[in-house]
Amino acid sequence: MPRNTLSVTDNRTGKEYELSLSKGTIQAMDLRQIKETDDDFGLMAYDPGFTNTACCRSRITYIDGEQGILLYRGYPIENLAQEYNFLQVAYLLFYGELPTQEEYQEWTSQISRHAIVHQNIRKLIDSFPHNANPMGMVMSTVAALSTYYPEARDLKDHENRRRQVYRLIAQMPTIAACVHRHKEQLPYIPPNEELSYTANFLTMLFQTDHSSYVPHSVIERALDVLLVLHADHEQNCSTNAMRSVASSKPDPYSAAAAAIGALAGPLHGGANEDVLRMLRQIGSKDRVQAHVERVRRGELRLMGFGHRVYKNYDPRAKIIKALAHDVFEVTGSNPLLDVALELERIALEDEYFVKRRLYPNVDFYSGLIYQVLGFPASMFPVLFAVGRTAGWLAQWEESRNDPDQKLARPRQIYEGHTHRHVPAGLSASVSK
Ligand code: ACO
Repeated sequence: MPRNTLSVTDNRTGKEYELSLSKGTIQAMDLRQIKETDDDFGLMAYDPGFTNTACCRSRITYIDGEQGILLYRGYPIENLAQEYNFLQVAYLLFYGELPTQEEYQEWTSQISRHAIVHQNIRKLIDSFPHNANPMGMVMSTVAALSTYYPEARDLKDHENRRRQVYRLIAQMPTIAACVHRHKEQLPYIPPNEELSYTANFLTMLFQTDHSSYVPHSVIERALDVLLVLHADHEQNCSTNAMRSVASSKPDPYSAAAAAIGALAGPLHGGANEDVLRMLRQIGSKDRVQAHVERVRRGELRLMGFGHRVYKNYDPRAKIIKALAHDVFEVTGSNPLLDVALELERIALEDEYFVKRRLYPNVDFYSGLIYQVLGFPASMFPVLFAVGRTAGWLAQWEESRNDPDQKLARPRQIYEGHTHRHVPAGLSASVSK
């Protein structure tokens, strides 16, 4: 028997099949030959939430959820966060290698050049209600970019594709900042090409007096590290949305808008917002135990805990926890830090969490930093989206160049009625 095969006996028919194995995976289409009768459709795999389905082969990000390891293009996230900035990491994700000095200069200059948004895009943001959810505004604005750059639909032109990549990475902070300032009813600050990506972002967000705003280097570095940590995470919900929508070959703005919608949900990028609400609701260390009891009783989930892939401490959460201390030295501590630390301490010792292998994820501590930087909680997922745009675009480009990729179109198990006759009275009523 060849070693890289899987022998399957169909007990309905007694037939035997040999399925080829590669990298611990069978080809799902090989199951279709397994039929009970000749006109049978063949076997499918039922996998809601794709918990055990590989949808692509990728060279971008590697996660070992058991060990708590995260690598971008083979490099440990801890080293990248310490040694490199967000735009260098974005380049690495997209091109597969860290940039040389020359490549970096070209990359950053292209990105700075594309940072300004069309004035009508600002008008579009102006038209949203001030109390609108920021992710809804960002999603709609990114979708609207497809109407301003119709050439983006020409995906075959390599240079054209690159332009959309520069533009989206460049304009996400501008859009995010415009959304924040619209909510706060403050005038927009245009991008400044002279500043670093993150200093420019902070300036567009927080500048009040044109001549005096210079972000503190610790704050600038902290936000940059947060962008690095959020830049990619293999086939998560929003990246899956990006790839899935991109598989029908629309422009990248339409696919990115779908990814932003996916990221907005509380089980994904919206969790950081909910962590802060939860910590506020708990309010003090002495009320943590009671909160954990409610989680144990199944009344609620502990937000910022648990992960589909990590069954160990999320390495990004470790970095953010350390980063929080650096930031708090500059800004003064966040009173909710004590609640978070106590919550983590109790949860990590609690049988409910130990048994289910639930550890803090990337969202557990990030909100505490965002809050002391001056962001309202509803803006936290937007910051996540700015970082994750780098990963979405790298995954988009990879899927475009992958000859195995097809239009995403899952199957279903149909459980509805079989063929029925329409009652006569219903069809007649349409002509009234
Ligand atoms: N609090 C309490 N119990 C939890 C939690 C949690 N945060 N997460 C999982 N569980 C429990 C479930 O109730 C379930 O228990 P059971 O076996 O008794 O039914 C068990 O752990 C497994 O949970 P699933 O929901 O099946 O695990 P899944 O892999 O689908 O969930 C998820 C992953 C959605 C992230 C989940 O852990 C969760 O809801 N966490 C809170 C939200 C959050 O922090 N999301 C951010 C994730 S990171 C990111 O997207 C950037």
